[in-house]
Amino acid sequence: MRILVTGGAGYIGSHTVLLLLQAGHQVVVVDNLSNSNPEALRRVAELAGRAATLHEVDILDHAAMDHAFTEAQPDAVIHFAGLKAVGESVREPMRYYRNNVAGTVALLEAMERHQVRTLLFSSSATVYGDPHAVPILEDFPLSATNPYGRSKLMIEEILRDLHRSAPEWSIGILRYFNPVGAHESGRIGEDPNGLPNNLLPYVTQVAVGRLPAVSVYGSDYPTPDGTGVRDYIHVVDLADGHLRALDYLLRGPGLLTCNLGTGKGVSVLEMIHAMERAAGKSIPCRLTERRPGDVALCYADPGRARQLLGWTASRDLDAMCADAWRWQRDNPDGYPSA
Ligand code: NAD
Ligand code: UD1
Repeated sequence: MRILVTGGAGYIGSHTVLLLLQAGHQVVVVDNLSNSNPEALRRVAELAGRAATLHEVDILDHAAMDHAFTEAQPDAVIHFAGLKAVGESVREPMRYYRNNVAGTVALLEAMERHQVRTLLFSSSATVYGDPHAVPILEDFPLSATNPYGRSKLMIEEILRDLHRSAPEWSIGILRYFNPVGAHESGRIGEDPNGLPNNLLPYVTQVAVGRLPAVSVYGSDYPTPDGTGVRDYIHVVDLADGHLRALDYLLRGPGLLTCNLGTGKGVSVLEMIHAMERAAGKSIPCRLTERRPGDVALCYADPGRARQLLGWTASRDLDAMCADAWRWQRDNPDGYPSA
């Protein structure tokens, strides 16, 4: 199969491209490298024994996208490209709506021009807002509390409208919970720009000595140990979920909406302790105020993915931490700058 992957040089994209190549697919990546490093795809090629083609292109660039589609002749598109920092989205909402929402519309129009109508989209558990219950089912009410979340919700609505108007499309909306970890080789992983926003890269940067201590945002939540609970999912399990979802979509038209999570809630303190075991050292942390916009509990009911895709996450918290630590230890400053 020929697959065009937007954002394929990024964190989740690079792990998915590796699995696609290993499964024998031809892969063309479209990425403007605004939040990634071409070294990731070089290493993917080294691991897979063959390479994806990279087009350094913005998904908003009509002509360059036409060129990439003409060259790739894809059977399907996996759409990872997007900006994802919540705080930045509050400061620069227009940039988020242009890049994420207008970018997706431009991609859908390019797909229509090239008669490619099979799409997997990276949504997020953020579309459940502050869930009224856990575990979270796909039909729970949707809401968003910041422009990043709203951009995901808007794109989901656009995809639902598109599918209503053109049922010949085959669309998968995958709602990721909290992707963490790295490929077990330690060669590719998460390489955030500047101070990490997310918990696990922050913890590994403290463990490796780049940062002094982890701030635990809130210890008075209604959770077993008072700290926030999330559904952390190994990035390779997540990538594998895309291959399963792609198989499902290619069976025929339809609209699939699926949680990708483990179904297990892990607290901030449990995560820090698991990383201490993986790294074999203690990780300094201090309890601080809650982070505005955070929810107490967020974990998936992954039943639909199991039932429809035959997919379940197989890597546990210790594997997530061991792999995240191997990546951080072997690449303390991330990918070498180009
Ligand atoms: P990432 O930033 O590592 O990857 C995104 C990639 O898209 C980057 O390589 C970036 O250069 C590229 N990109 C951004 N805008 C582009 C544009 N206009 N044209 C071309 N390329 C562009 O992020 P990630 O963690 O791999 O996330 C991938 C997707 O999954 C994103 O859509 C994100 O919102 C979504 N998601 C991520 C998480 C998470 O925690 N990482 C959780 C839920 C959903
Ligand atoms: C964040 C985003 C969310 C996005 C998700 C995955 C916010 C408000 N939400 O969610 O939109 O979909 O990442 O990319 O940013 N924590 C600490 N100290 C830290 C960092 C985090 O204690 O330095 C805590 C948080 O309070 C939370 C947990 O760790 O309880 C996980 O945080 P994080 O990794 O940022 O993920 P989410 O909060 O789920």
